[in-house]
Amino acid sequence: MSTKRIAPSILAADFANLQRDIEMVNASEADWFHIDIMDGVFVPNISFGMPVLKAISKHATKTIDVHLMIVDPDRYIQTFADLGADVLTVHYEACTHLHRTLQAIKAAGMKAGVALNPHTNISLLEDVIQDIDLVCIMSVNPGFGGQSFIENTYDKVKKLKALITEKGAATEIEIDGGVNDKNAKALVDAGADVLVAGSFVFRSENPTATIQNLKQLVS
Ligand code: DX5
Ligand code: ZN
Repeated sequence: MSTKRIAPSILAADFANLQRDIEMVNASEADWFHIDIMDGVFVPNISFGMPVLKAISKHATKTIDVHLMIVDPDRYIQTFADLGADVLTVHYEACTHLHRTLQAIKAAGMKAGVALNPHTNISLLEDVIQDIDLVCIMSVNPGFGGQSFIENTYDKVKKLKALITEKGAATEIEIDGGVNDKNAKALVDAGADVLVAGSFVFRSENPTATIQNLKQLVS
C-alpha cells in the first residue's frame, strides 16, 4: 500500500454544485482536499475566501490542505485554524520571517507548509527544512488552474528530496500545478508524496475514476 496522496484542487470544482463535488471527493480514493486562497495581490487572481472555506469544511471528511497565495499570511493563521485547516501552506516569497510564521502555524495546531514559486531555489530552505512539514513545489506560476506543467520541476523535487534526506527531516513533498496521468508516476519516482490535481480531475468525464486512476499510477 502506497502512502502517496492525491489532493484534488477545489479551485477547479463547479462552485454552483460545491457540495456535490465535495461529496464526490469524500467518496473517492482521494486523500486530501486542496484549497487555493488567492488575494489578487500576491497572485493576479482572486479565488474565494473564508465563507466558502467554512462551507467546504462543513461537508469535507478528509484532510483540508489550505494553500495561501496571499501577502502577509500571519494575519490569518488563527482564522484558518478555526475554519478547519489541517495543513496551512504559506509562500516562501510572501514571508519575511518564515521561521516565525511556521512556529505560529504549528502553535495553532496545524501542519506547516511552505510553497515555492517556480523561480525559487530549493537551497533557500536549507536552514529551515527541519521546521517544515510540507514543501509545496509550484509546477506552474501560482494564480490559475489549467496551466501546463513546468518540466524543471523534476530537478527541484530531486534536489529537495536530497536536502530532506541530508538533514534527516520528516518533510513531505507536494507538487501543485499541471499534474496529470502523464507526469504523476515520474513525480513520485523523483520523490513526491502528495500530488495536487485540479483541472485534470474536475474537467474529466468521470472525476471519481480519474482520481482512482491517479491513485493507481502512484501506488
Ligand atoms: C494554482 C493553484 C493550484 C491549481 C492547480 O495557483 O495553486 O492548486 O488549482 O490546478 P491544475 O491542476 O488545474 O493545474
Ligand atoms: Zn494550490
